[in-house]
Amino acid sequence: MDTLGTVLVTEEQIAEAVTRMGAEISADYEGKELLLVGILKGAFLTMADLARAIQVPVEFDFMAVSSYGDATKSSGVVRILKDLDQEISDRHVVIVEDIVDTGLTLHYLLENLRVRQPASLEIAALLVKEGIQQIPIDVKYRGFDIPPDFVVGYGLDYAGLFRNLPYVTVLDESDLPEI
Ligand code: IMP
Ligand code: MG
Repeated sequence: MDTLGTVLVTEEQIAEAVTRMGAEISADYEGKELLLVGILKGAFLTMADLARAIQVPVEFDFMAVSSYGDATKSSGVVRILKDLDQEISDRHVVIVEDIVDTGLTLHYLLENLRVRQPASLEIAALLVKEGIQQIPIDVKYRGFDIPPDFVVGYGLDYAGLFRNLPYVTVLDESDLPEI
């Protein structure tokens, strides 16, 4: 596949960041067991690569959420399409996200998971869009701060496409397929 638009984060940069995040998590959770909660679908690649960079024992679970709104904007109304398979009370939980944009999705998820009383609850996100968070979210493990452009690749989609790109690129309008 030809490279789309302006590459913002290369495959090598992603690999470096994920390795660093994995080392940070491994140090912080030494001697503990961790439950990684991946947010489908966007986080599937970050989850797969980050998990392999973590040295402490990890279990996996997934949630799928959708936020109502148009294709490129979050509305803040979040619907759970798939909930966790397991209980998280007394577990050390790290939510794994592809990107934090307005922060509305993660704000909702944090509230939703906190009431289940995990032993701890933190967030790992590959990308954080700077400057447009409506709700400040404390992203403890973060890959890159990026400008507020709409990006695709490495799990992130536009209308379901481009998730398989191994890099993150700004989506130019001229790249859009006719759909
Ligand atoms: P938030 O609720 O605005 O923080 O949005 C979070 C969700 O919106 C992410 O998990 C993505 O699924 C989606 N999203 C936000 N920004 C982008 C983007 O630039 N490209 C693709 N999806 C995005
Ligand atoms: Mg997502």
